[in-house]
Amino acid sequence: TAGYLREPWRPQFHFSPEIHWMNDPNGLVFHDGEYHLFYQYNPAGNTWGHMSWGHAVSRDLTHWEHLPLAIAEADGVMAFSGCCVVDHNNTSGFGLGETPPMVAVYTGHGHGRQVQNLAYSNDNGRTWTKYAGNPVLDINNPDFRDPKVFWHTPTDRWVMVVSLAREKVVVFYASEDLKHWSELSRFGPAGATQKSNWECPDLFELPIEGDGGKKRWVLEVDMGSGSVAGGSGGEYFVGDFDGTRFTATQDAKWVDFGRDFYAPVSWSDIPDSDGRRIWIGWFNNWETCLLPTSPWRSCMSVPRVLSLRKTTDPADPDGDLVMVQRPVEELQRLRVQSRPIDTTAATWPPTAVTEPGELTDMAFELETTLKPGTARSVGFRIRTGSDEFTEVGYDREPGVVYVDRRKSGNVAFHQAFAGRHEAPVRVVDGAVTIQVLVDRSAIEVFINDGEAVISDRIFPTSRRPTIEVFAGDRSAEVTGTTLHVLKSIWHA
Ligand code: FRU
Repeated sequence: TAGYLREPWRPQFHFSPEIHWMNDPNGLVFHDGEYHLFYQYNPAGNTWGHMSWGHAVSRDLTHWEHLPLAIAEADGVMAFSGCCVVDHNNTSGFGLGETPPMVAVYTGHGHGRQVQNLAYSNDNGRTWTKYAGNPVLDINNPDFRDPKVFWHTPTDRWVMVVSLAREKVVVFYASEDLKHWSELSRFGPAGATQKSNWECPDLFELPIEGDGGKKRWVLEVDMGSGSVAGGSGGEYFVGDFDGTRFTATQDAKWVDFGRDFYAPVSWSDIPDSDGRRIWIGWFNNWETCLLPTSPWRSCMSVPRVLSLRKTTDPADPDGDLVMVQRPVEELQRLRVQSRPIDTTAATWPPTAVTEPGELTDMAFELETTLKPGTARSVGFRIRTGSDEFTEVGYDREPGVVYVDRRKSGNVAFHQAFAGRHEAPVRVVDGAVTIQVLVDRSAIEVFINDGEAVISDRIFPTSRRPTIEVFAGDRSAEVTGTTLHVLKSIWHA
């Protein structure tokens, strides 16, 4: 991993495979002190193909250890996306007695069909055995994939949500033993663009912030094209799940307003004593996925903690709930140096607020408050070089926070890559807060404490970047700015 420090676009605090192609996160599960991260992986090359499950583990959701391939393509059947559970009661019978088995439920893709398969491990996920009775669910359909399974305590059984991708429908199944499944209900087609497909569903309960432990269910689904910033992206429904049927109580909302957050799934089996619902997404977009990196392609987002927030008047019981995403706190341990930076004199043209050479590792975090006043726009240019920058700002005309990567560096590798991506935001007491995570080839902007997120890959070429601040006029202010320099997770 020492070489990772020299590769100019190798993410320094986002997970990436050592070599070759990666897409969706799979099988996220916490077991025996380890967070497992499996992922769609091509063991044979740097483009999509031969899909198998790559594997890594972490004890702190920050530093990752690469492990050997977990589940491999075989006999013309690829191992597509899926999930993992800890079978605490050994309902499957795969356990050997002492510790509960880990069971992966994944899609087998091949011979014109997509079916649901099982594999299990009795050694903390180090080796996997495919179930001899596979498939466990076959409805003779070529677009039936990406199962997510969880234990539903009130009905004392396993529940699966899986997508009929082409129909834009998700199907719910129940099982006593992970091997026999019966259909419960269906949801969809619904949501933003009825033309597109649905893949990689997830279903979980989230707490409503400050509402005395009240919870609501969230169903998340991903569309391969036609998402908010173009190309692939996710949408979610807030509603109820009664163990049989999901009912949406609000219209669909976008998961992320950038172009590069796809197929997020949440960790299973995080203990109640922790209580967090944490997910991670593929930091990429199918439309522009052939990124200019080698010998590896793709990285994951940072792990994010989820909750729900009422964004209208708290006294209004019908107010919409928004899903809030925040970087996990564990990432703060990477802050090797934190200092306030004076951004109060923001004006036009942009002025540098860091020294060239200060951010050589190019992994940092910026926390700040934008107060637009009467100015049209206010914000930052980061990863600057000669005529090169990524702009993050607030634009009062549409009322959005945006990431503009049109001049961010190498944008020419795909004609749909250059662009500006906007998230509609609320201005609370004249202010918008933003937290910006910047890595060598990625930027994640968390707005108003996670109410909206913009995730974009960037491929800057400048080696001595600075941060600049700007405002359209003197009425705008940028206050309370802190710069955190982050240590690479690949340092020993
Ligand atoms: C989503 C997806 C999944 C599928 C996997 C194949 O990105 O298309 O639906 O299981 O990728 O690699």
